[in-house]
Amino acid sequence: MVLPRICPDWQLPARQVTSETVFFNRRRFIRAAVGASVGMSGAIALNSCRRPLDEAAQSEFEKTLGRPLPNAATHPNFNELNGNVTPQDFASRFNNFYEFGGTKDIWEQAQALPTEDWKLTVSGLVNNPQTYDQDDLLKAFPLEERIYRFRCVEAWAMVVPWLGFPMQKLLAAVDPKPEAKFVRFESFFDPSVTPGPSFSFSNLPWPYQEGLRLDEMANELAFFAVGVYGQTLPKQHGAPIRMVVPWKYGFKGAKSIVNIEFVAEQPATYWNTLSPNEYGFEANVNPEVPHPRWSQATERLMGAGNDWEWKKQPTLLYNGYGSYVAQLYS
Ligand code: MTE
Repeated sequence: MVLPRICPDWQLPARQVTSETVFFNRRRFIRAAVGASVGMSGAIALNSCRRPLDEAAQSEFEKTLGRPLPNAATHPNFNELNGNVTPQDFASRFNNFYEFGGTKDIWEQAQALPTEDWKLTVSGLVNNPQTYDQDDLLKAFPLEERIYRFRCVEAWAMVVPWLGFPMQKLLAAVDPKPEAKFVRFESFFDPSVTPGPSFSFSNLPWPYQEGLRLDEMANELAFFAVGVYGQTLPKQHGAPIRMVVPWKYGFKGAKSIVNIEFVAEQPATYWNTLSPNEYGFEANVNPEVPHPRWSQATERLMGAGNDWEWKKQPTLLYNGYGSYVAQLYS
């Protein structure tokens, strides 16, 4: 297996990832990961700080994957996890996943998400449409680690070590047609499993959808995460696959994606449909453009210091990734 590459300068050092001090409900995590699918969970149980995957599961996975799993011990970032990575216990218990409720503590409800037999279809204006199951994804796209700043439109921030693959790789695999100008990402939705927030469920524009311009998707920072903190993506973070677009507000990162469609026109998106004045389609992090109800000039870096403490810091234009993405908006 190809190890994650040597860090380019958008790669934050591990010391800036929110620290993993108190490991959240460790046993529950491992149960969820190992119970769901040997393939995916095995693939990314890499962190030497955690209980290693048992040997049978590992060799089963390596057979499917057709290459050895990386050795966490050789991965410098994970070995150095400390003070500045957002604590995993915080990141995994403070979530937005409106399909499972309108509060931040939906991680338990989100365990109802059925991830077995997951299918991701990629369709629309492409020459090579695809349907991937979880193991197909891992075979097709070698995993990398990306430690990215994460900025929610609600003015809180984290530093998160994702595992996954660049969106560019999927573009190369499906070969968009020249007419494709936008991409629509659709999250899992089944009203029998995803009750939504207790308020106004019927008025919400389900399923959760997000969109990018094709050139945004082709940017080297745009990423699909299938794991985080060296493990399979927990359900509350959007298992088994979610978007990570670090220069945009967090709501652009649709979780638990089931469909990706290449289209000619800008697609409707969830938050933009609900409140277009508050949640633009572009949604680039920008300290100069306040949300209509609050300033975006500063942010609360969660998990800085002790577990639940936060630190106020200035918001960075494009969340600090301007040298990679500003040219997209000139
Ligand atoms: N994706 C889906 N399907 N449903 C959601 O409610 N919330 C978004 C984004 N993706 C959301 C979603 C918002 S508002 C944020 S800030 C991030 O997920 C939060 O990601 P996290 O919970 O993994 O930190």
